[in-house]
Formats: sequence, structure tokens, C-alpha cells
Amino acid sequence: STSEPIRLEDRIRDIQDFPQKGVLFKDITPMLQDGPYFRAAIERLAAHYSGADIQAVVGVESRGFIFGAPLAYLLNCGFVPVRKFGKLPAETINIEYALEYGTNIVEVHKDAIKPGQRVLIVDDLLATGGTVEAAIELVEKLGGHIAGVAFLVELSFLKGREHLKDHDVFALIKY
Ligand code: PRP
Ligand code: MG
Repeated sequence: STSEPIRLEDRIRDIQDFPQKGVLFKDITPMLQDGPYFRAAIERLAAHYSGADIQAVVGVESRGFIFGAPLAYLLNCGFVPVRKFGKLPAETINIEYALEYGTNIVEVHKDAIKPGQRVLIVDDLLATGGTVEAAIELVEKLGGHIAGVAFLVELSFLKGREHLKDHDVFALIKY
């Protein structure tokens, strides 16, 4: 056929001054809305980890859920939600982390990760790295092994990767 390979960047839209003046927001919703593009993104992530013996995918609320759940499905492993404070019903551990302004608390069920389990952490975006660092810390506190950290988009100029030096970081799209 003559169809061109899918370039995911073609479905990522720039929004000026969101959520505040001076910020150029990378909006992934056009990609999510386009079936073949969304599917290509998930399949490319799954292909990258197909031989990695991933035993659990951890997704960070809320945009990490969009990618984490279908990825877990394709990798034939379970999905573990890291949620914002107060949403998980059973026993949890939590961690507070810095946002651009203020702080946020995320938590995970204590019984969600088994010691030694090979865990893939997934989120839509690597910006400063604060969110995913918090998720990593939660998983490690439960004895999980971080087998990878995956993103749809990495904003390289924010140097989030420098906070994740001990880990294998993969992003489908880099700006
Ligand atoms: C956004 C994004 C990542 C995080 C990246 O989440 O989905 O999780 O910020 O930023 P960082 O690398 O600087 O931590 P947000 O907290 O806006 O919440 P949402 O996923 O619920 O939209
Ligand atoms: Mg998020």
C-alpha cells in the first residue's frame, strides 16, 4: 500500500499559555481521538518492552491510566494505579512531591506490588520528573524492581531524565 508510517507528532497539538502564561502545552488529545494513532502509540510502547519480562504496569493518575491500562493488557500483566490522595480504599503508602507550585500527594495500595516484582512505570509526559520520581519511590518502598519508565512525550529541555539516572527511561516522542 502507499500509506505512510504514522508519525505520532502529527497528532500532538501546541497550546500557547496553558495552564498559565508562558507555557507551551503539548496536547495529546488529538492523538487519543485518532484510533490508528492511539493504537500505534500503545503498540510501540508494548513492542519496546515485549522481551523485558514486565510483571506489573504502574500508571500515574490520571493521564498515566490512559496509557498504562492498554499497555498492561498487551503485555499480559496486571495494572496498578498510583492515585491522588484519598482515592484508594485499602491500606496505602503515600508520598508528597513538589509541583510547579505547591505539592501533591500520591499513594498506592500496600499489597499492589510484591517484593522483587518487575515493574514498568508509565505516564503520558516527562516534564520535571517529579511525578514519576514519586511513583518510583512508592514502588521501591514496596520492594518492587523498576524494570523501566516509559512516556509518550518527554520535554527534554526540562531535564527530568536527570532525576531518573538510575533507571531505564524510554519516550516515544521528544521535544
Ligand atoms: C502531568 C502529566 C504528568 C506530570 C508531568 O500530570 O500527566 O503526570 O504532569 O510533570 P512532571 O514531570 O513535572 O512531574 P498532572 O499532575 O497535570 O495531572 P493529570 O495527569 O491528572 O492531568
Ligand atoms: Mg499526570
